[in-house]
Amino acid sequence: MHLERREQQMFDGESGEAARVSMEILVALGKIYGAERMIPVTSAQVAGVSYKTIGDAGLEYLEGLAAKGARTRIPTFLNPAGMDIAQWKEMKIPQGFAKKQIAILDAYSKMGIMKTCTCTPYFIGIRPKLGEHVAWSESSAIAFANSVLGARTNREGGPSALAAAICGVTPYYGLHIEENRVANLVIDVHCRLETIADFSALGVHIGALAKERYPAFRGIRSATEEQLKVLGASMAASGSVPLYFAEKITPEWNVADGAERLAFTEAELKATKSKLDTREKPQLVTLGCPHASLSEIKAVAEMVAKRKPNCEFWVCTSRKLREEADRLGYTMAIEAAGGRVVADTCMVVCPLEDMGYSITGTNSGKAAKYLPSLCRQRVAFGDMEDILYR
Ligand code: F3S
Repeated sequence: MHLERREQQMFDGESGEAARVSMEILVALGKIYGAERMIPVTSAQVAGVSYKTIGDAGLEYLEGLAAKGARTRIPTFLNPAGMDIAQWKEMKIPQGFAKKQIAILDAYSKMGIMKTCTCTPYFIGIRPKLGEHVAWSESSAIAFANSVLGARTNREGGPSALAAAICGVTPYYGLHIEENRVANLVIDVHCRLETIADFSALGVHIGALAKERYPAFRGIRSATEEQLKVLGASMAASGSVPLYFAEKITPEWNVADGAERLAFTEAELKATKSKLDTREKPQLVTLGCPHASLSEIKAVAEMVAKRKPNCEFWVCTSRKLREEADRLGYTMAIEAAGGRVVADTCMVVCPLEDMGYSITGTNSGKAAKYLPSLCRQRVAFGDMEDILYR
């Protein structure tokens, strides 16, 4: 594998131990995937932030790296942590968990990483441009960056995204290479998709059929960024899909000749929604997977101001948008209706199973896929109005 002079210096340890270890990770990864060289990246998004997912071993690794003098060379952002940093006590997060979570955030902070703690950095102004190379590691953010923004990123793991942040480069293979960004599965959508739950169902259904292929959707009349984020998140959860196209919607449309064609009809939409739903009344409804945009928070605030929900509910978002929501009065409306705007974390990466909940409502295909296995929850899945007032 060819390394530029600066990369070779890092590999040889001339830029410190942390850069050496990081370059070693990147070179090993490059060799596995047959990369001939590295490519500079303009930002990194690092997953592996919640104490629930990385545990003591992860904390030790991060503290070790910070102690070795690891410093990021490019703007680097964090995925959600295991708790809301400001209101973890009110949310009944166990104290021992909180202590470890704070230590993880401190270790990242020492390396110069911004504590954005969100899986939707593109809603807080971090929006790589068409053709820009980045190293992102949260599956829904990867799908959004590649598909909706047209940026180039592979599916990085937490450690490889961190290594890219420290070295400023990533191996040049996979979705960084133009010729690989081609869809080989065409989906003709024959039904009307209106809600987040509808786009979730489409994503869950097609993700499971994709099998290493990139889907290209025809027939979606229009879609908001919020709907596209949940479509990508749901396909990432059910089938690890990192890239898709939607005709006349996404900035790129590259389809292979002879790609297999599948149809998605009203029958599949209904069946998928029904399969994800236990039809129980949720104890807690969680909205904002991936993290909510400001207009999603506004929509919840308006709905619950008219009619108080029958259960506890959270809207998960970034700290920055939570502050905006405070300023605009949305948080106050949500709290007045018995809800919470939760920042820095989400329903899946916080210790929900230790907080007294066993039935959780969601309109996200990704949360519906992960809540049973990662949080021991039964899932009430449906449109926002349905789950809030069941
Ligand atoms: Fe984000 Fe958590 Fe969903 S990290 S994509 S809100 S599972």
